Amino acid sequence: MTPKAKRVRKAVLPVAGLGTRFLPATKAIPKEMLTVVDKPLIQYAVEECIASGIEHVIFVTGRRKSAIEDHFDLAPELESFLEERGKSESARTVREIGGDLQFSYTRQSVALGLGHAVLCAAELVGDEPFAVLLGDVIMASNAPSCATSAHTEAPNSPIPATRELIEICDATGGAGAIHVEQVPRERLHFYGIIDAQPAEVPGGGENAIWRDRLLRVKDLVEKPSADKAPSDLGITGRYVLPPEIFDYLAETKPGAGGEIQLTDGLCRLATDGKLYATVFQGRTHDAGDKLGFLQATVEIGLKDPKLGNQFREYLRKLKL
Ligand code: G1P
Repeated sequence: MTPKAKRVRKAVLPVAGLGTRFLPATKAIPKEMLTVVDKPLIQYAVEECIASGIEHVIFVTGRRKSAIEDHFDLAPELESFLEERGKSESARTVREIGGDLQFSYTRQSVALGLGHAVLCAAELVGDEPFAVLLGDVIMASNAPSCATSAHTEAPNSPIPATRELIEICDATGGAGAIHVEQVPRERLHFYGIIDAQPAEVPGGGENAIWRDRLLRVKDLVEKPSADKAPSDLGITGRYVLPPEIFDYLAETKPGAGGEIQLTDGLCRLATDGKLYATVFQGRTHDAGDKLGFLQATVEIGLKDPKLGNQFREYLRKLKL
């Protein structure tokens, strides 16, 4: 029988990057605070945490990132200002930004790579499985939830990307789980690429929506050239990992780009047979580059309940 895993309660969000691809916009503002429609980029990931049942978000920050802390802190003066002027809906929006989450902050003082950033959160995470969300990737799932799903949204709403990985971690007795997506050949060198085979669901999860998409990861390569890539399945930026990953990352030497890569730590989990992947069902926006950011703005703007129709009309006219 598969042993029962500890509950996934914490999520690590690495946000120490300098955001050089967005200069000059990011000279004084963290990249994570750039707005997609009406929310800063990082809020999409935090909302995914809330919808996935996460209780504690750990930001791995760097210098000049205090706007992120302020954004998720209480703002009593602003709230009373809005309430006094009868703008209760705006006051509620401000109050509810962080849900009931607990927030912690730790610093990555030197930019040594994603693996190093995750390792910086080791003490705050402790000896339990945890999620990692890359804040510049917005993942809008369209996989329906199922009877076994315990996420906090309405029963028929899509299962959030992180929630799906938590279910896999639970069903496999605490193994790691990552989302992957098919990547066009000319973009393989931007991703961690997996070598994997279809996997049986080891225990539980018989009715789970992801059971036919479950893969066991045998190996991974960070940012390979197209001819060295073991497949076309790239890691999209959502992970649920067992605490052993910290020991592996502590032993990981700089890899691709001279950085300590999370992907290289994942290779050790894969060697232990403790890493699963699932092909993400939904729309991923890599808003970490300018084109992806613009695409996210347009597609999310089109879905906006208040603005969507007007915006669609505007775009239609623009095409003529
Ligand atoms: C990181 C990871 C990579 C992953 C990618 C997804 O790379 O190292 O494995 O595929 O995120 O966006 P980065 O985009 O930070 O270079």
